[in-house]
Amino acid sequence: MLSWDEFTKPEDQAAPLQAALPVNTPDSHSDASVSQARAVSADDSAAVARAKAALNELDIQEGLDDLEGAGARVRVDEKRMINCRADLNQLVPFKYDWAWQKYLDGCANHWMPQEVNMTADIALWKSADGLSEDERRIVKRNLGFFSTADSLVANNLVLAVYRLITNPECRQYILRQAFEEAIHTHAYQYCIESLGMDEGEIFNMYHEIPSVAKKASWGLKYTRSISDPTFQTGTPETDRQFLKNLIAYYCVLEGIFFYCGFTQILSMGRRNKMTGTAEQFQYILRDESMHLNFGIDMINQIKIENPHLWDAAMKDEATQMILQGTQLEIEYARDTMPRGVLGMNAAMMEDYLKFIANRRLTQIGLKEEYPGTTNPFPWMSEIMDLKKEKNFFETRVIEYQTGGALSWD
Ligand SMILES: [Fe+2]
Ligand SMILES: [Fe+2]
Repeated sequence: MLSWDEFTKPEDQAAPLQAALPVNTPDSHSDASVSQARAVSADDSAAVARAKAALNELDIQEGLDDLEGAGARVRVDEKRMINCRADLNQLVPFKYDWAWQKYLDGCANHWMPQEVNMTADIALWKSADGLSEDERRIVKRNLGFFSTADSLVANNLVLAVYRLITNPECRQYILRQAFEEAIHTHAYQYCIESLGMDEGEIFNMYHEIPSVAKKASWGLKYTRSISDPTFQTGTPETDRQFLKNLIAYYCVLEGIFFYCGFTQILSMGRRNKMTGTAEQFQYILRDESMHLNFGIDMINQIKIENPHLWDAAMKDEATQMILQGTQLEIEYARDTMPRGVLGMNAAMMEDYLKFIANRRLTQIGLKEEYPGTTNPFPWMSEIMDLKKEKNFFETRVIEYQTGGALSWD
């Protein structure tokens, strides 16, 4: 238990409070105390004297003018998802409680890859007849796709999306999500390293394997369109461009492109194979379903606040994006499953992806494009249902080592 007593010595308590800078309400008392604190004394080195002198030149107003949005106290009704003019550094009062709640839920689900025991996976992966060639292909392709895909998502968040979402509670969740993406990339790296895979081969699949490369480049095109630092929202055209980025990443990348791989690896875990890898994927899937729901909430809130953006052409474009994503994921399913494996095959996966695509379409208010499709993998819905989720803190492996010090010999 941390005790502040250890850090507070009696002489510290007696020290006079100095160097409290006035922010934007100067008065004669604070002016006087500042000039007293800034006075160069005989004890000051030349460097300290220079630092004090530099502060005399500091223009506080210039700094305040650089803050995003107006500096006045924020009222809830001024808050907006995009193009907001209110101060973005005032988290409260909350307007979008769903965003804050997801931030709290994300923090409550915190986990680290090293907490998952990989011993059984390593033994299975290294044994000559532990897995079939088709099963090995699934593990490699998915680690290849995901190890770079989560990094593309993280880059899109911090280099493109964060700046353009003008709401502090959503930004708070985006910061949490960005860290979770870093944990996911770490988890894939941890699996690749534990299993002793060829790192160059796995991390370069998004260049070298067409079914992986097509998904990555489809997403990257939407990052490119808004990551130019001079790009600004504020016109119907640029607002729609931003909305398309959100649909591409939240509905398609995180909402469709992850689903074939998640299903395959979790199906392996259900058959008692690669259980450590499957457990990593299960925690990632739990995070991802929250990312997806957050993205859907953002997209729908932007539509509510800017109904003119959601015209017939935009609806058609959003539908096309989801259908293109579904088609690319169907092609990925065929590439990763040339034959039936793990109680599934490419045709069943195609049905599942169409079922998922219908969900994504209706979640943002569009009509289903694959009517009558049913879910061939109902167990996936059970795994994703957070209420049925096992309590992470009751089942986590207690004995683990941190950092890169693990040895599996
Ligand atoms: Fe992720
Ligand atoms: Fe994600």
